[in-house]
Amino acid sequence: MLFRDIDTKIAVIGLGYVGLPLAVELAKKFKVYGFDINKQRIKNIKQNYDETGEVEKKKLKKTSAIISSDEKILLNANVFIVTVPTGINKKNLPDLRILKKSSTLLSKYIKKKTLIIYESTVYPGCTEEICIPILKKNKKFKYNKDFFVGYSPERISPGDKKRNVTNITKIVSASNKKALKQIKHIYSKIVKSGIYVAPSIKIAEAAKAIENTQRDLNIGLMNELFVFFNKIKIPTKEVLKAASTKWNFLNFHPGLVGGHCIGVDPYYLTNKYKAVNLIPSIILSGRKTNNDFHKFIARKVDEIIKDNNLSKKKILVMGYSFKENCPDYRNTRVYHLIMDLQKKKIKLKIHDPYLQENKDNFPFKNLSIESFEQHQNKYDLIILTVPHKIYLKKQNKILNLLTNKGLIYDFKSKLKNNKRIIQF
Ligand SMILES: NC(=O)c1ccc[n+]([C@@H]2O[C@H](COP(=O)([O-])OP(=O)(O)OC[C@H]3O[C@@H](n4cnc5c(N)ncnc54)[C@H](O)[C@@H]3O)[C@@H](O)[C@H]2O)c1
Repeated sequence: MLFRDIDTKIAVIGLGYVGLPLAVELAKKFKVYGFDINKQRIKNIKQNYDETGEVEKKKLKKTSAIISSDEKILLNANVFIVTVPTGINKKNLPDLRILKKSSTLLSKYIKKKTLIIYESTVYPGCTEEICIPILKKNKKFKYNKDFFVGYSPERISPGDKKRNVTNITKIVSASNKKALKQIKHIYSKIVKSGIYVAPSIKIAEAAKAIENTQRDLNIGLMNELFVFFNKIKIPTKEVLKAASTKWNFLNFHPGLVGGHCIGVDPYYLTNKYKAVNLIPSIILSGRKTNNDFHKFIARKVDEIIKDNNLSKKKILVMGYSFKENCPDYRNTRVYHLIMDLQKKKIKLKIHDPYLQENKDNFPFKNLSIESFEQHQNKYDLIILTVPHKIYLKKQNKILNLLTNKGLIYDFKSKLKNNKRIIQF
């Protein structure tokens, strides 16, 4: 082992959806430092407020983790865990700028026995081809002799309160046996559901990338079927119900695929395909189907309005975040749906419980954000885009928001059956 527990000092780099819960759990067992360049985020965490909704106030109040936006705190650490964003650019190419920047930063803080673990999602080969060469620029210390590297993908799903960092099997991998032993030991202190040792860093990277790619493709298939079943006028919900009676039929449903993982990670893989002269036709086809799905929903909305003689002015969109029960609306596909509906001259109002707290970055400044509690307005059509738990609990309240002829378009089919509700 590289360190005794008492000497293990861990710095978590990037305190977002992944980094903050990890830092808080690790701080129960080790000395932990949390570093983030976003000063406002640091201020909020220090005031025990996590705007991602992942870590409760009382846990933040109790944590011993030292949080800062001052990189000097990194001087204290001998283990670094990198949880910074890895997005894509406008051309759907991996945007590794932040990962590279963090590696450059950490290269300055390498000491003898330093261990650097990457958790950010990447393509197979990224850690060894991009990150390690940057770390190696520190000529004072030798890779795998003085400092070591690991890769351990994060597999949480934002908004999922049941599965968290402590009960999801943790995949670990490392640059050598010594580092692997240390990484296994660190995570086993907080992860109760087991550690899985991947034979290499590349395998661990690939495993993470394919998990979300598989999910993306399965949803893509459902979306494609949904369009087809709509055309031949049979309810997708009933087809899926019937098919699900077979033991090996997988439980996937149509839906808008946004956010930072499922809609992004497949592109990390496809770019690697291209680098080795292969064409990832199935993966890219699934991506296209999911990226275009909002267009179909917009056409359906238009059709529902026309067929039922509804007013184009009394329409409410319910749900803006990229997935249920999550306040994050970066890369939400509801954005594209709203753009399509506006092009069709449909006047919208919007509601999302999380928008009330986080209006600043909402891009549609001309859209009225409705408050569910003091609702005065009645709607001819409610489009349930993101079926947050609170909506499902308050189905009757939502039904009461309808005009006499009003309808709800619940294209994810999450509400209970009702003649006023159109499902998939
Ligand atoms: N969100 C998820 O549920 C999830 C699940 C599995 C894997 N991942 C992966 O984990 C990684 C992190 O995702 P996230 O959702 O936590 O991102 P996030 O955007 O919520 O948080 C990232 C944090 O890093 C900070 N940051 C940015 N640049 C920095 C820098 N140079 N130095 C220090 N901090 C910096 C940001 O201010 C932000 O607080 C990504 O690779 C993502 O793909 C995310």
